[in-house]
Amino acid sequence: MPSSTGHCFPWLLVTLAGLILLPLAHGAPNKQNEDQIQLLPGQPNGVAFDMYGGYITVDEQAGRALYYWFQEADHGTADPATAPLVLWLNGGPGCSSIGGGALEELGAFRVHTDGETLLLNEYAWNKAANILFLESPAGVGFSYSNTSSDLVVGDNRTAHDSYTFLVKWFEIFEQYKYRDFYIAGESYAGHYVPQLSQLVYRRNLGVEKPEINFKGFLVGNGVTDDRIDTIGMFEYWWHHGLISDETLESGLKVCPETSLTHPSPECQKVMDKATEEQGNIDVYSIYTPPCEKGTPYERSLRLKRSHRREFIRNKPDDDLDVRVVQPLMLPAYNPCTAFYSTHYLNIPEVQDALHANVSGIIKDPWVMCNMPIYDNWTTDVVSMLPIYKELIGAGLKVWVFSGDTDTAVPVSSTRRSLAALNLPVKTSWHPWYIVSTEVGGWSMEYEGLTFVTVRGAGHEVPLHRPEQALFLFQHFLQGEPMPAEASFTFTTSNQFDHKS
Ligand SMILES: *[C@@H]1O[C@H](CO)[C@@H](O)[C@H](O)[C@H]1NC(C)=O
Ligand SMILES: *[C@@H]1O[C@H](CO)[C@@H](O)[C@H](O)[C@H]1NC(C)=O
Ligand SMILES: *[C@@H]1O[C@H](CO)[C@@H](O)[C@H](O)[C@H]1NC(C)=O
Ligand SMILES: *[C@@H]1O[C@H](CO)[C@@H](O)[C@H](O)[C@H]1NC(C)=O
Repeated sequence: MPSSTGHCFPWLLVTLAGLILLPLAHGAPNKQNEDQIQLLPGQPNGVAFDMYGGYITVDEQAGRALYYWFQEADHGTADPATAPLVLWLNGGPGCSSIGGGALEELGAFRVHTDGETLLLNEYAWNKAANILFLESPAGVGFSYSNTSSDLVVGDNRTAHDSYTFLVKWFEIFEQYKYRDFYIAGESYAGHYVPQLSQLVYRRNLGVEKPEINFKGFLVGNGVTDDRIDTIGMFEYWWHHGLISDETLESGLKVCPETSLTHPSPECQKVMDKATEEQGNIDVYSIYTPPCEKGTPYERSLRLKRSHRREFIRNKPDDDLDVRVVQPLMLPAYNPCTAFYSTHYLNIPEVQDALHANVSGIIKDPWVMCNMPIYDNWTTDVVSMLPIYKELIGAGLKVWVFSGDTDTAVPVSSTRRSLAALNLPVKTSWHPWYIVSTEVGGWSMEYEGLTFVTVRGAGHEVPLHRPEQALFLFQHFLQGEPMPAEASFTFTTSNQFDHKS
């Protein structure tokens, strides 16, 4: 389904036209022109879309500014002037959407093992939509605040700041007003996405033609309901042979009633025991080898046990030792990929090109996940299910997906949480296919919500299964159920044949 990229000529023309028009644009400087990214260090040839990056102040008194990187739709496969607009958020709380989403997962580029050059992601989501990556909240990645107490933050201010960001962003990118708009994200963004969606939805109520033309949301391996997720998590660990019977039993006894961002001491003890029993695995992708430097550290900070381990390695001066692993060949998965993006984003010329960390305003180096943000997270809202009910009731498009080899927010957690919504089933559990020779994952449709699993994918689905992830994203945008039959089959000559 995702077509190959081979259209060089139209591209050249577009690029040349852009260069010729550039001086004109400079005549009337505005924030959009200023934020346009001209050329990234190490950028490959064949970039067929426009990019923008910069800051938007969300609180003038405190001096809080959020950084965004906007990758417009790829001209080769979509029309940026009509394609939907999608906001992407990574979780944590405290992890970067630029280092995670943009450079490891669904973004247009991945970072080579040298940490200095980029390659194009054949399955980037901007093949289908205009993708806006946001560092959120302030204190994460390139987003900052001039008020140090702002590092104590929780769900509520995160949602309100993101909303303020959006309103101001649409004033700068006016051509996106009234465009179909979606919010998407992963892991702890299982909170951010529905919470921000609810704000946008409520602010739009009663507005006849809202500028932020919000159509729905998409969540992957998302934290949904602490109590129910926890039950599903211990079940997953046990069913995949990762923990003892005793740990299953005590986990189910003491953990479900505490918040997982800040577990009770009793629950923490069980978590530590579970970590010990699991041993040296990548908890975000149990059947792939961990990076020799440790598992990549982005990801859901839900499990303190693993996060501690991850964050210890979250030091930029540490990253280059891992350059030696095998070359990053898409779509093969390199478990050390987070080290390369961390190195890349700390290069001063890269920051200049991105219009990030302007005049060195941020003192500390760029890190994938910010530990103080996580440690000081204030609001433990335990369940997103009431928001799901409200937004499903409003008729918004709601899709949830899950990579089924993740232990952090496992597929069994998500299934149990969604089941608790008690929605009528429209289409029962079925495999879905890209090609008939292999199941891509499974899906079921409720009235008002579509659930999709991605077989063999870990916590970061677009990193582990890029082709399946783009296929799923396209179906989400089009509102098409995942196909229970492949529309393509392999012939003996190994060519794709359309089945019609
Ligand atoms: C933060 O403070 C610096 C130095 O005073 C200033 O240049 C910058 O504009 C401030 N940032 C915001 C978002 O107000
Ligand atoms: C959430 O944050 C907004 C904006 O800062 C504030 O007005 C509101 O009172 C907060 N709500 C709660 C429940 O704290
Ligand atoms: C910001 O720039 C300063 C000065 O170059 C640098 O020391 C710091 O590591 C940078 N921080 C981030 C988050 O990029
Ligand atoms: C936030 O958490 C860190 C631990 O990571 C702690 O050292 C720091 O004092 C906390 N900051 C605030 C403002 O409470």
